[in-house]
Amino acid sequence: MTQMAGVHCLGVMLPLILAAALHQGSAIDATPTPQTTTSPHADPGRPERGNYNVSDSNKTVCLLAYLGLQLNVSFNSASQNKVVQEVVNIKPNETNASGSCATEKAILLLTSDGETTNLTFAFTLNTTSRKYHLSEVSLSAAWPDMKEPISIKNVSVDFLQGTLGHSYLCREEQTLFVSQNLSINIFQVQVQPFGVTGNQFGAAEECQLDVDNLLIPIIVGAALAGLVLIVLLAYLIGRKRSHAGYQTI
Ligand SMILES: *[C@@H]1O[C@H](CO)[C@@H](O)[C@H](O)[C@H]1NC(C)=O
Ligand SMILES: *[C@@H]1O[C@H](CO)[C@@H](O)[C@H](O)[C@H]1NC(C)=O
Ligand SMILES: *[C@@H]1O[C@H](CO)[C@@H](O)[C@H](O)[C@H]1NC(C)=O
Ligand SMILES: *[C@@H]1O[C@H](CO)[C@@H](O)[C@H](O)[C@H]1NC(C)=O
Ligand SMILES: *[C@@H]1O[C@H](CO)[C@@H](O)[C@H](O)[C@H]1NC(C)=O
Ligand SMILES: *[C@@H]1O[C@H](CO)[C@@H](O)[C@H](O)[C@H]1NC(C)=O
Ligand SMILES: *[C@@H]1O[C@H](CO)[C@@H](O)[C@H](O)[C@H]1NC(C)=O
Ligand SMILES: *[C@@H]1O[C@H](CO)[C@@H](O)[C@H](O)[C@H]1NC(C)=O
Ligand SMILES: *[C@@H]1O[C@H](CO)[C@@H](O)[C@H](O)[C@H]1NC(C)=O
Repeated sequence: MTQMAGVHCLGVMLPLILAAALHQGSAIDATPTPQTTTSPHADPGRPERGNYNVSDSNKTVCLLAYLGLQLNVSFNSASQNKVVQEVVNIKPNETNASGSCATEKAILLLTSDGETTNLTFAFTLNTTSRKYHLSEVSLSAAWPDMKEPISIKNVSVDFLQGTLGHSYLCREEQTLFVSQNLSINIFQVQVQPFGVTGNQFGAAEECQLDVDNLLIPIIVGAALAGLVLIVLLAYLIGRKRSHAGYQTI
């Protein structure tokens, strides 16, 4: 009786342990590897998550964003006299959020690092399908080491798709390709560019990456737990039989 309870307990625990272990593994994989090529600076690590809100003319919050942002930029370096690639984190305590909200377009403008970095995100809402997405990204930057300031814009991106009244949530790191010279790594993002009520996020729609990441370890764990259970049962039955056989001799 106690043995059976032990086996049952193991069957329940194993998927959980495996899920935790596998998830840990993927989290470690996701951390960026240090640049070995042209970057003069060390890997900045994971960016801190910032709370970036936009209010309308009535001072009510109309866009909410909570995420970690990391820029991966190529530019002409003044000190090295060549094109370098730099990975830079957006620091929330040095960033101001502003923007605007209209029926079909919401804009989040992040001004960072003493106005030397301006990052703009424009979201579009299709009022027919009630779906929104991040449709435009632009960056203008004038960093001390830049030979000339840079200005990058892509007005045909399609990221962070959600449904009106809901927020978009993704725990996994994602990379947004903006142009040859800019990609943006986003970490633990939750955004809602439209239909914000009462200063809070609406029900979250989780990205497919997260759903996959949750399902795979559960399926693998359950399969392994089943296998362990079968082996244990076979062992117990086998032991009982040989024990019985021993007694008759
Ligand atoms: C930055 O982008 C380059 C190529 O565009 C890529 O090889 C590198 O891994 C990226 N670094 C990070 C930290 O995303
Ligand atoms: C501001 O508030 C007024 C009154 O509550 C409302 O009629 C108007 O639509 C609001 N404007 C915006 C931009 O939300
Ligand atoms: C990327 O940056 C390099 C160096 O700053 C520049 O020469 C090139 O035109 C840029 N490419 C694009 C597509 O903007
Ligand atoms: C922002 O925070 C970082 C550490 O998180 C700190 O090093 C930096 O001095 C802070 N900057 C300002 C302007 O407070
Ligand atoms: C945000 O903007 C205000 C007013 O423009 C300024 O006083 C403040 O220093 C800015 N904060 C940061 C973190 O840049
Ligand atoms: C909005 O969505 C509808 C239905 O999905 C589609 O037919 C229409 O082309 C979309 N409009 C725009 C401007 O993308
Ligand atoms: C960022 O925006 C501010 C305010 O509009 C502006 O003064 C500043 O020059 C901009 N910085 C860059 C690098 O474009
Ligand atoms: C704009 O972004 C989209 C999606 O990431 C990409 O397919 C396209 O090539 C980009 N356009 C330019 C000019 O880089
Ligand atoms: C943004 O809104 C959230 C939720 O209402 C709030 O917790 C946070 O303090 C706000 N951040 C700023 C910078 O106003």
